[in-house]
Amino acid sequence: MSEQQQKKLIFSGIQPTGTFTLGNYIGAIRNWKPLQDEYRCIYCVVDEHALTVKIEPAKLRQKTLEAYAQLLACGIDLEKSLLFIQSHVPTHAQLSWILNCSTQFGELSRMTQFKDKSQKHPDDVNAGLFDYPVLMAADILVYNADLVPVGADQMQHLELARTIARRFNGRYGETFTVPEGYVSPLGAKVMSLQDPTKKMSKSDENPNAVILILDDKDTIIRKCKRAVTDSETEIVFREGKDGINNLLTIYSAVTGKTIQEAEKEFSGQNGYGKFKIAVGEAVADHLAPVREEYARLIQDKAYLKKCYTECGAEALRYSQRILNKVYRKIGFVASEIR
Ligand code: TRP
Repeated sequence: MSEQQQKKLIFSGIQPTGTFTLGNYIGAIRNWKPLQDEYRCIYCVVDEHALTVKIEPAKLRQKTLEAYAQLLACGIDLEKSLLFIQSHVPTHAQLSWILNCSTQFGELSRMTQFKDKSQKHPDDVNAGLFDYPVLMAADILVYNADLVPVGADQMQHLELARTIARRFNGRYGETFTVPEGYVSPLGAKVMSLQDPTKKMSKSDENPNAVILILDDKDTIIRKCKRAVTDSETEIVFREGKDGINNLLTIYSAVTGKTIQEAEKEFSGQNGYGKFKIAVGEAVADHLAPVREEYARLIQDKAYLKKCYTECGAEALRYSQRILNKVYRKIGFVASEIR
């Protein structure tokens, strides 16, 4: 990571939930790449957060490596940015303990994601699930990140991170940067292909609802052809045409054309058949290099190891300085061990 201190620092994390969806890609990951030219960027595969729902050890290990390789394949450039695995950098978990003591039970109880997830998994409402937002705050604050690209579903967590930072600063003196949310001008929300009023989600039971970034061309085209639309024939972006709006959004995101340009391109077509195929082809062509690069990277375990080791070591060095300062401020006795 370059040491140009005048550049703002971005931090973002992503859970290793398996192959990323086109929704993850267009909404988040794709935008991480251009940010690297304007900001210092720190990106992290958050395997500790993934532990808050039951997962087989072998699965967690595999998904973490796959997520790491997918992010590299999507264009994270280690000449410019850091990309590492959360559990390799112990300062996050260390800071989260300190921040726990500046966070109220009531605040965590109000988090909508906690409420949703504990309803979904009533048999495993573990303390980690409850404490999830504090670890997320630690991820961000342990680097004094200025900006955090997050989707709408994580805004409440980011707001809590800001509250914790301000509270800590108030109590112990200026220590943390209060991070801002970063909404990418390119970001777009991708909806389910089978129910375009719902967000495209990995956990959808219907595989036709979701395009994965490693799907092959035929699969992508097939899923687009089956996309639920409406009974009209006109390809325009308009309220009430959720399916078509979604396909236009996707098409625009992967081709770089505006929605208006896309509408023009397909105007006069009677019916959606050709349009759906064109969307599928555009998505598949756009993702082809990602798929190829991923296939190469995931074979090269030695290279992946070198990347996450070097980045993790640098992230540790950087965050250790900030953690040491926190330890001093709160009154821990100085230690030669750290
Ligand atoms: N909670 C985020 C999500 O599920 C992932 C995450 C963990 C994160 N730590 C973070 C995102 C820090 C931004 C910054 O999407």
